[in-house]
Amino acid sequence: MVVLCNDDVFRDSAPEHTWCEQKHLSVTSQHVEVAVCSAWMARRLTLTRILFLCIAVTFVVAVYLALAPIQEAVCTCGQQKEQNKGVNILQKSVTQPDQEDDGKEEDSHRVAVLVPFRDRFEELMEFVPYLSLFLKEQGRKYKIFVLNQVDNYRFNRASLINAGFLESRLECDYVAMHDVDLLPVNPELQYEYPQNGPYHLAAPHLHPLYHYKTFVGGILLVNNEHFEKLNGLSNRYWGWGREDDEFYVRIKKAGLQITRPGNLTTGFKSFRHIHDKRKRPRDNYRYFDQREKTKRLDRETGVATVRYLVESRRELTIDSFPVTIINIMLECNVTTTPWCLRPEDHDWYLNQAEGKGQQPNQQKAVKSPAHKPVAPPA
Ligand SMILES: *[C@@H]1O[C@H](CO)[C@@H](O)[C@H](O)[C@H]1NC(C)=O
Ligand SMILES: *[C@@H]1O[C@H](CO)[C@@H](O)[C@H](O)[C@H]1NC(C)=O
Repeated sequence: MVVLCNDDVFRDSAPEHTWCEQKHLSVTSQHVEVAVCSAWMARRLTLTRILFLCIAVTFVVAVYLALAPIQEAVCTCGQQKEQNKGVNILQKSVTQPDQEDDGKEEDSHRVAVLVPFRDRFEELMEFVPYLSLFLKEQGRKYKIFVLNQVDNYRFNRASLINAGFLESRLECDYVAMHDVDLLPVNPELQYEYPQNGPYHLAAPHLHPLYHYKTFVGGILLVNNEHFEKLNGLSNRYWGWGREDDEFYVRIKKAGLQITRPGNLTTGFKSFRHIHDKRKRPRDNYRYFDQREKTKRLDRETGVATVRYLVESRRELTIDSFPVTIINIMLECNVTTTPWCLRPEDHDWYLNQAEGKGQQPNQQKAVKSPAHKPVAPPA
């Protein structure tokens, strides 16, 4: 089906220019030139003229189509939201310019699934198709961001989520902080917009492993407004664990209410925990004064102070389901949080801290800033 106009032409605010371009459309083995009405029309063109133009063009095309056998449907309307298969969009937009396809008001929210990531290839291969189908079943709008930490520091789940928020917030209005190895099984687990406060989907009474009352890890949904209000997560947690417990305290201090799913009949089987077959050791060591410095609420660091560099971005599909991989180099201030360093870099750190060494690794260890932080919440 050849599409010639869309409803943008009815907008008053369209730019001044108008043009009709010649398009070469391949229909069967022949070629045809058709004047295609582009989306942007002159302010001065009246509705009547536009209608007339559209109808005229429809007529020309209809005549052509009647004469030539059609094999393929072609849509030239780049800005059209939906590709309505087998429907004449031209007629549709003329007769009902401002209506949604089925008239039903869809959920306009869109969730950014933020997946902190490092070396979990097998889990990712399973996660993306599975969660995509799960969210599609619920009719959710979503985009999956894999936040792949590519620097040489220890893993920092919280900073990756902060970075992921900054990278996704223009496209999505809420986030689902999501472990890559936790799959929702019960279809009653709704990834709905968390209007009134963080929604902890992987609740303690449902999560297969963690059952303590203040647990907010696994899968947590937060809308963008609340995420900024909380200043995201603390950036001080390098290595495994505890950053979610600190986030719980942030939520409480901000006076936000955490809600959770009710009792589901599936209980601890509401989720499936997937593991790579090889046992992965967890980096839950604490170095230097890490334990001391990370046991209290962090009032300083968060999404407003996270520093990172997007090394690259890749758009992949896994079993035809799209996923955006963001390769992130986190920055670490080794003076304030030396425990971001891996054990093999500790000697270097201690040497330079004592002023003995020649600081051979400093350039490598401390990356220059690339990210302009957002303003801290009022
Ligand atoms: C869930 O079930 C437990 C034990 O059966 C019960 O104590 C608790 O009140 C229930 N919670 C809800 C929200 O229904
Ligand atoms: C690291 O933090 C210290 C203390 O806040 C600060 O004085 C220093 O400038 C920071 N270094 C870098 C490279 O940002």
